[in-house]
Amino acid sequence: MKMKMLVGFGILLLVSQHALAAVVEVNEGAEPVLMPCDYNGMIPEYNPLVIWTRSDLKPSLVHLRRDEEDDLKDQNQDYRHRTSMRPDFLDTGNFSLTLRKPRISDSGNYICRLGDGREEWRVTEVQLKVQDQQEEVEVKEGAESVILPCRTTPDLPEDATVEWTRSDPVFMFVHVFPNTSKHYKDQDEGYLCRVKMDKDLLRTGDLSLTLEFLRGSDSGSYICTVYRHQDILRHKVVLKQVKEGFPAWATALLVLLFVVLPVCGGVLFYFRHYFMSGYQVEVESGVESVLLPFTTTPELPGEAKVVWRDSRGRKVHVFKNGSDRPEEQHRFYRNRTKMNEDLLRTGDLSLTLRHPTAGDSGQFFCGVWRDRDILRQKTIQIEVKVQQVEVEEGAESVLLPFKTTPELLGDAEVEWKDSRDRTVHVFENGSDQPEEQDRFYRNRTKMNEDRLRTGDLSLTLRHPTVRDRGEFRCLVWKKRDILRLKRVQLKVKAGTVQVQDPPEDIRTNSSSVDPSPLMADQSV
Ligand SMILES: *[C@@H]1O[C@H](CO)[C@@H](O)[C@H](O)[C@H]1NC(C)=O
Ligand SMILES: *[C@@H]1O[C@H](CO)[C@@H](O)[C@H](O)[C@H]1NC(C)=O
Repeated sequence: MKMKMLVGFGILLLVSQHALAAVVEVNEGAEPVLMPCDYNGMIPEYNPLVIWTRSDLKPSLVHLRRDEEDDLKDQNQDYRHRTSMRPDFLDTGNFSLTLRKPRISDSGNYICRLGDGREEWRVTEVQLKVQDQQEEVEVKEGAESVILPCRTTPDLPEDATVEWTRSDPVFMFVHVFPNTSKHYKDQDEGYLCRVKMDKDLLRTGDLSLTLEFLRGSDSGSYICTVYRHQDILRHKVVLKQVKEGFPAWATALLVLLFVVLPVCGGVLFYFRHYFMSGYQVEVESGVESVLLPFTTTPELPGEAKVVWRDSRGRKVHVFKNGSDRPEEQHRFYRNRTKMNEDLLRTGDLSLTLRHPTAGDSGQFFCGVWRDRDILRQKTIQIEVKVQQVEVEEGAESVLLPFKTTPELLGDAEVEWKDSRDRTVHVFENGSDQPEEQDRFYRNRTKMNEDRLRTGDLSLTLRHPTVRDRGEFRCLVWKKRDILRLKRVQLKVKAGTVQVQDPPEDIRTNSSSVDPSPLMADQSV
């Protein structure tokens, strides 16, 4: 059961009108464009140079490269600091020009010539098209699949190649056609087995990419590049994942469906699925456990294997041959997961994840497998929320709340830290450890006396000021394991009470040496 969402429309990439010029098509934006110019003839012995021009401009010079260096004194100023050529161009015959930050106004015909100061020989011509439209595809977070559209003319030549790439956060191949082992090796692991293209794409010209089991990190720009003879056609698609609620386009479509158009079974089914796929689970950080619900049809085959994975591909829980397989799970999840008894018969594959921490926020996938076939699957988004606390500057104190179970605390170490990773407060071996705290917090923190009995690990921070803004974390450690992690976001509003600013020199001194006396002053 696949949910495919095709939003927007594929754009027909333009075809070359010039039989001779190579066409290079790109979207306006940040990725540099390469205008190819390969030469394999004789190089003049004296004063060899390569000139790139655009005859419809004045001055027409885009780039001039001599043997040793660029000569850009007559360069058209529109291209300033945006062009470059390989330093080894004479040895390699690769006279290609790289143009950074292509703009719409860069569209035009570029001629690449070789010269020696007296004569010039035309090597090639490149027709550059810079388009402004980029396509946006919107999909609900956690959707099972999405199509990133890219179309070109049908009946592509046999040797045409297609690349889907990303350049952000780092350059990576998402998918390449044809699938040679080299390309396969270059593919980013995160996309392995999650992407596919039309098998018949050379004939149809439909180069759209289907991306399955979406993850948060899939959002962003994708570039579809087609190499067709000497032409390079690039098309950019931006994937957006919408968090909650119902996106505007879908509402509009829904109105269209129910009000204007006769109801169509397939589409209706899809929308039903859409409504039902609110697989987002939210919990406060620091709770005992979170349930990832997944109930499917009962009486699953006895040989079925159930695998829960996280968005990094780590195994969260494995159930195989009728029992749990803790030895196969990632150690990050060791002793933290639990599934129901008799799950194949009941079809209740829900997972209990204990002590969820901030690091657990993200997507979880559950797959039911028989051999290599996937029988059932589900994606759940978990969000371990950070508690918000607000206080006005000048208040006597503020409470950063955290209640947990007392039995947990036995010989555990409790540590509050701030967003700069400074130690705010430490409680260990039954007592506070003020010598471990950062001096910024000296004499400003307090925890409940009977915390061991009540499990109340809340922290009182005295004299809060705007410099205390940020995220505080409370970690409960046992040996080297984090048992609990609570996050509290502290907002301190600038006070309404007028505070006398100390003279500049005192302020600089005290903040770099020991800010706490100052903090105390200000809050009075
Ligand atoms: C020419 O150089 C550019 C820039 O370094 C490179 O991307 C391109 O692949 C080269 N072309 C050939 C045919 O080697
Ligand atoms: C691509 O090729 C590699 C090795 O050549 C192979 O292992 C892999 O299954 C192929 N992938 C697809 C989607 O055909």
